[in-house]
Amino acid sequence: MTESTTDYKKEMNSYPLMNNYGYPKLELVRGDGMYLYDSKGNGYLDFTAGIAVCSLGHVHPAVTDAIVKQAQTLVHSSNLFRHPLRTELAERLCSLTGFDAAFYCNTGTEANEAALKLARRAQWQHGHKDKTKLVSLPGGFHGRTMGALSVTKKPQYHEGFTPLVPNCETPSEIEGVPDAIDDKTAACIVEIVQGEGGVHPVDPGLLREIERRCRATGALLIVDEVQTGIGRTGSFLCSEQAGIKPDIVTLAKGLGNGIPVGAVLATGETARAFTPGSHGTTFGGNPIAMAAALAVVDTVAQPDFLEHVQRIGAYLKQQLEQIGRNVTGLGLMLGMTVDDAADYVAKAQSEGVLVTAVGKDRVRFVPPLIASQRDVDELIQRLSRIR
Ligand SMILES: Cc1ncc(COP(=O)(O)O)c(C=O)c1O
Repeated sequence: MTESTTDYKKEMNSYPLMNNYGYPKLELVRGDGMYLYDSKGNGYLDFTAGIAVCSLGHVHPAVTDAIVKQAQTLVHSSNLFRHPLRTELAERLCSLTGFDAAFYCNTGTEANEAALKLARRAQWQHGHKDKTKLVSLPGGFHGRTMGALSVTKKPQYHEGFTPLVPNCETPSEIEGVPDAIDDKTAACIVEIVQGEGGVHPVDPGLLREIERRCRATGALLIVDEVQTGIGRTGSFLCSEQAGIKPDIVTLAKGLGNGIPVGAVLATGETARAFTPGSHGTTFGGNPIAMAAALAVVDTVAQPDFLEHVQRIGAYLKQQLEQIGRNVTGLGLMLGMTVDDAADYVAKAQSEGVLVTAVGKDRVRFVPPLIASQRDVDELIQRLSRIR
């Protein structure tokens, strides 16, 4: 055994996980509303929400009750059988968004993978067998499976994983996207606010131009609302505010308040392309995930809840502008430029605040949507101490 082998063996003995997350140091064992706690009982004001996931805050009683009740009734039966909560959630999501049918999965990546497959399959089923190109935006992030990664043009995420899925095009400039959508395009996938790309909203005029090109060429428009959806930006879906009407939308993150659940919603004409056996997953639509998602959707879809997100989002933006620069985003999905994001995150943590870095010089604020004005004041007071 070489010395370096002994080194990594030692490391894996103490923490037997692969190193793709870079061995975090802080261990969190309990959550309550806006706060997370380590094993010594130290509390951290959480402006990460598990990366834009725990929208109703940690251990929300309605979600916990729904999970517990469902766990005592039926945990899993598979998609070989119907389950009433699966239908109920699909009905609720479709009536809130105007789509016609849902497909369930477990993560955002899986939702996008399914959406890309659905788009190609719909073109194929409608007789457009040559419409296979998938267009995406520079700065976008859609996930880590081979398909989702192929429409995520970030060189460091591709390193060592090529060749990826053929016939995917991401123009080097965002303004070049409409021209890349042509007669051979199956779909264009967009994020309205590019979260992992630094929390940058895409220009609404460009979004409408992309939609127009899709309509003109017969390409389908997929909006990835994995991060922006379920109230995060102050409307149930972000596409409502952007004034575009996608053919397919993908959801995950905030949908289950921490229980893994993803969904693809599509218009009837497109949704019909998934015929028996064409796509599937064992766990998608699991009853516990459905129960959690229904509890979340019932709360988030209330008009006063969404108004709260808009109000606190505007307040957070205004307050961050007092202490930082280039604050961008929508609702409670905001980013701010700092000199060194990793250093800022570490210093925030020592002040008892959790935020995340996106890229080298951007810090992201995606708190639970229940954040109050007092929580924002507390955040700003603590961040103001950072030098
Ligand atoms: C917009 C967007 N799409 C897809 C994903 C991938 O989701 P997941 O990590 O649940 O696979 C993410 C995750 O950050 C995301 O922000």
